[in-house]
Amino acid sequence: MLSGRDIRGRATPSALRRPVRPRLHWFNPGWLAEQTHYEGLRRFGHLVRGTVIDVGCGRQPYRHLFPGAATYVGLDLPRAPEDAPVDVFGRGETSPFQSGCADTILCVQVFDYVWEPHRLFGEFARLLRPGGHLLLISSQANREHDPPHDLFRVTRFGLRRLTEHVGLEVVELTARGGFWTMIGHATSLYLLHNFGGLRVAGRPVVAVVCGLTQAVCGLLDRLHCDPDDTLGHLLLARKPGG
Ligand SMILES: C[S@@+](CC[C@H](N)C(=O)[O-])C[C@H]1O[C@@H](n2cnc3c(N)ncnc32)[C@H](O)[C@@H]1O
Repeated sequence: MLSGRDIRGRATPSALRRPVRPRLHWFNPGWLAEQTHYEGLRRFGHLVRGTVIDVGCGRQPYRHLFPGAATYVGLDLPRAPEDAPVDVFGRGETSPFQSGCADTILCVQVFDYVWEPHRLFGEFARLLRPGGHLLLISSQANREHDPPHDLFRVTRFGLRRLTEHVGLEVVELTARGGFWTMIGHATSLYLLHNFGGLRVAGRPVVAVVCGLTQAVCGLLDRLHCDPDDTLGHLLLARKPGG
């Protein structure tokens, strides 16, 4: 359990806010990408237990997938969305928690923003107890977003190097879909950003085209998946010992 002594920072009143559980519909332009998150997080959800630190928690949209988390602490920057249920404000690279306090670290779609990725991974290794797990989701191909904070993309080779460099073991490193998932996601974001501002009457058309594109591309990926062209990766790593 994470007690007050484990946190060298200030827990904020925003801890009283509730996680936001997204309702994703097939015509949402992020649907295909979200499916890859859910698939991976559900598969390893049983390992997310005990004291869990969600680094870059945002609105904590996946928290409901982890009933085994006895203590769930969301860490994020002060610039996190206002409605985000952040428990502790801070940076993932220099977090205010005591060493070895976490059974599991969750880090979903944060890598893009981190200026010093090797320091972030160093913190993961410091915070995990021996035998603890890191579950991370990253992007290899994604449209530029959130300027000027969107900094990096990473390949599976980069993830493995960062993980092993800090003494963690890679348990699983899998692609979040293949070529067609990437194409479906990129196409629907292209449609949204270029035509989503159409007058009200045009919006349903864009939504339907986005939905159909993602559905067809998702199906094609199931028929033939080339993971060298992928949206990104899911990494499960373990701290030796325990
Ligand atoms: C794309 S959002 C993802 C939020 C959430 N993990 C999710 O999957 O919905 C990225 C989050 O990471 C946070 N973030 C960015 N850089 C960070 C850092 N160095 N340390 C901690 N959080 C960071 C941002 O404030 C933002 O809330």
